[in-house]
Amino acid sequence: MAKRLYIETVGCQMNMLDSEMVVASLRKSDFELTSDVEQADVILFNTCSVRQHAEEKIYSALGKLRQLKQLRPDTIIGVLGCMAQKDQRHVLDRAPFVDLVIGPGQLHRIAELIDRAGGAESAQLAVSLERRDADRRQVMRSHETFDPLRDPEMRPTPYQAYLRIQIGCDKFCTYCVVPMTRGPEQGRSPDEILAEARVLADQGCLEVTLLGQTVNSYQYRKGEQTVRLPDLLESLHAISGIERLKFVTSYPKDMTDGLLQAVRDLPKCSPYLHVPLQSGSDAILKRMKRGYTVSQYRDMIERVRQTIPGAAVSSDFIVGFCGETYQDYQQTVEMLRWCRFKNSFIFKYSVRPGTRAAERLPDDVPDGVKRQRNNELLAIQNSISETENLAFIDRQVDVLIEGPSKKAARGHSEISALQLMGRTHCDRIVVFDGPDQLVGQIKPIRIDRVTPHTLLGSLVD
Ligand code: SAH
Ligand code: SF4
Ligand code: F3S
Repeated sequence: MAKRLYIETVGCQMNMLDSEMVVASLRKSDFELTSDVEQADVILFNTCSVRQHAEEKIYSALGKLRQLKQLRPDTIIGVLGCMAQKDQRHVLDRAPFVDLVIGPGQLHRIAELIDRAGGAESAQLAVSLERRDADRRQVMRSHETFDPLRDPEMRPTPYQAYLRIQIGCDKFCTYCVVPMTRGPEQGRSPDEILAEARVLADQGCLEVTLLGQTVNSYQYRKGEQTVRLPDLLESLHAISGIERLKFVTSYPKDMTDGLLQAVRDLPKCSPYLHVPLQSGSDAILKRMKRGYTVSQYRDMIERVRQTIPGAAVSSDFIVGFCGETYQDYQQTVEMLRWCRFKNSFIFKYSVRPGTRAAERLPDDVPDGVKRQRNNELLAIQNSISETENLAFIDRQVDVLIEGPSKKAARGHSEISALQLMGRTHCDRIVVFDGPDQLVGQIKPIRIDRVTPHTLLGSLVD
């Protein structure tokens, strides 16, 4: 009989993709998915360390399994992902009943490790080398990208897929744990990426989103040549079947004219860029070691607007970073107003042990102030998003239809079962009524109404 696997995933798209790969590879080892944790033979948490809150949620979910493990000691409980790499054996201090701790660079060993955990007395630990433990080559080799063959059934929708082009990060922003958990930046070979994209296209995938922590810094040395993101986009563009190409997350300093021109000239490239600003104050950006000034970021946005008119740009912000004064914060408000992002993710600064900021800079903005700044920025962004969306009223947009809308999926009583959702080329969410045979197609929708986060419309006959 097939063994049952329960998996929970938090964190970024990279983690979603890792979980997809884990499930696909375990299905090959005779596992089937269950959504009932009580029924599972193997319970996995794919974790995130980017903020303390994300870790606390996982430790509390693990705590709830203590009893289950006592009642059914054969159940295998595993902690995967960034928290596994960061906390390593310390995961077992807080949750001694855990059987597996596997960092993101070791996920290719998952099937073997689950097998071993079955008969083992002690927990199986598989993590990558830390940067200070060995030379760069060895550390790089210990962080392996995990991209086995793709299984369309394992994607949230078979028409869309993430495709990893880069692992790790070398930017070392002072607040950020990712360069530790994901290791050195490494571009995947273009041949592997293209082969994977062709598999996806053959499976009927219409939209491919390229993933990397600083995706536009991508480079791969091939003999004398260096392949960069614009080259990769051009090659991917030639694959028939793929209709849309996106890439996240971009690093402001590496947003070259060549890349912007590629996005402009290749019609399959979505006019959508996620380029986090983080703060509108030069003093804070410097303390964050982001590597650009506010005025350089402004110039970058101006180049985007000139080269790709109508492009949607989104951002991330951290409020309450070490030493952030009211004036610093006001400069962030000013930049938020000036940039007119499609949307922004806003986070309260969270100290991450092991980072430069944790070691050298005091976390001196009170939580209440962080919360207030967070809420205020969100309100400003919402009103900008809504105003930007108003321009879509009475316009027709091409929507890749992903499935039932959130409300329809929850079986909301007043909502027709046929309320569908999809996205525009510029990544805006569109909701409309239609038959579910349309899922997985790109169709024109006329927009009638908008909210800050959604365009509402109807099918064009
Ligand atoms: N590689 C991407 C995303 C990194 S994590 C990038 O460079 O943009 C996603 C977002 O989490 C970051 O953009 C940042 O806004 C936020 N973040 C990272 N570390 C954080 C911390 N210690 N506290 C609060 N937010 C953080
Ligand atoms: Fe973290 Fe900065 Fe790297 Fe993004 S670029 S993953 S914020 S260190
Ligand atoms: Fe979190 Fe790791 Fe992604 S820390 S944001 S899951 S790279």
